[in-house]
Amino acid sequence: MKEDLKTKLDGYIKSDVLPMHMPGHKRNPGFTGSKGDITEIEGFDNLHSPKGVIRDLEKKAADIYGADDAFISVNGATALIFAAIHASTFRGEKILVSSGCHISVWHAIETAGLVPVLTDPISDVTTGAFEGLDHRAFIKAIEENGINTAVITTPTYEGLITDTKDLYKRCRQLGCTLIVDESHGAHFGVKGNSKFPETSEGDIVIKSLHKTMASPTQTAVMLTKKDLPFKYLIRHYLAVNESTSPSYILMSGIASALTHTDTDAFFDIVKEGRKALTGLNKLRLYERADMDPSKFVILTEGYLTGYELADRLRKEYRIEVEASFPSYIIAMTGMGDTPETIKRFTDSLLAVDGKLGDRNGTTADTFYPEAAGRKFMLSIENAVKSEKAVTEIKKAEGKMSGEYLFAYPPGVPILIPGEVITGASIKAIEGASYLKTDPFRDFDGTLLTVDI
Ligand SMILES: Cc1ncc(COP(=O)(O)O)c(C=O)c1O
Repeated sequence: MKEDLKTKLDGYIKSDVLPMHMPGHKRNPGFTGSKGDITEIEGFDNLHSPKGVIRDLEKKAADIYGADDAFISVNGATALIFAAIHASTFRGEKILVSSGCHISVWHAIETAGLVPVLTDPISDVTTGAFEGLDHRAFIKAIEENGINTAVITTPTYEGLITDTKDLYKRCRQLGCTLIVDESHGAHFGVKGNSKFPETSEGDIVIKSLHKTMASPTQTAVMLTKKDLPFKYLIRHYLAVNESTSPSYILMSGIASALTHTDTDAFFDIVKEGRKALTGLNKLRLYERADMDPSKFVILTEGYLTGYELADRLRKEYRIEVEASFPSYIIAMTGMGDTPETIKRFTDSLLAVDGKLGDRNGTTADTFYPEAAGRKFMLSIENAVKSEKAVTEIKKAEGKMSGEYLFAYPPGVPILIPGEVITGASIKAIEGASYLKTDPFRDFDGTLLTVDI
């Protein structure tokens, strides 16, 4: 049997080969925690033109997810999204993009010089966040705008899933390349397991391995179809954007994660946790059929805010959750969880629930401005590079945004450079918390605007 990257690397670092090459820590344990931090030495292949042990790892990833081919990334799903969008489009072309897409999608649209056409997912009335896509509006937008490439996100940060089977079939008929950002669904569709949902359908499906699989931060995989015509361009744009010295610690971490693929066992642990949370009296575990069960979305039901709940879990139970919002929190689970870690979380939440007082009102969450009312006056790139004025948010209506503004998490922009600031976007901004701007500065109630 052929050695995989991790086994090969583990064997190599036990050898007495003297590294007269980069990196400068020389695998001296006095300087670095990991002896596996090598570079592209003989026998260890090259991520940017893989033919050996790294290519085998990509083929293994394709096999595990039932895809025709795969590309790995040590610069997150972000690098794969960049490569997918750059490879599948020509500068100046339109791209259909779901308003629920992550900032990494927008950065790729900006640098690829594309004209975005926005389409809205449905707004979830319970959380105020986005849920699945409106299929009819999506296909209509492709037809009306002569779209060649579309990008969507599923599942959402809250774990809500868009069914892509029919959507992809229609995209194929219309000659539109469908890119699916399935960053939060790395545990979906793993061979030999059937309890979590299947991997989405699309020409390109991108999974951020580190979000739920037992894989190190910054690792991700792109799955592609055999007949994808521009695969060589994906390799090119990965080389454009990723380090020429990709980390073997991360690649070996991917190899390791792809040997721990019992997602059904993970599902069973999560299911027990969900069962325990049916004992909540005031708080409520969000349950939907079209939802990833690995995400614990806890609705605070007006008894306290999501921020307060996160704070209590942090201070009283030493639990740090993934994210908090006005009316809910998201606690993420992953392949590394055990029945004990999940029980500690559910016991703590039940204890908080038992101590809650009376309901003290409802808290509204942010609703994003509707795509139909969003207009671009300038390309994103030109708006980013334009001279800007500082404008108080209350006086910004009708001006053009010179920066991205997004709630973080989930990193979904409310405003994009080049976009006209409307009353609806101001309302969304005023209702949001943890706002970030990009290029980065602290959001202080002002916006950087460009004169129209
Ligand atoms: C929906 C979505 N897409 C893409 C990304 C980027 O993933 P990565 O951190 O692997 O680069 C994120 C990160 O949070 C995300 O939430």
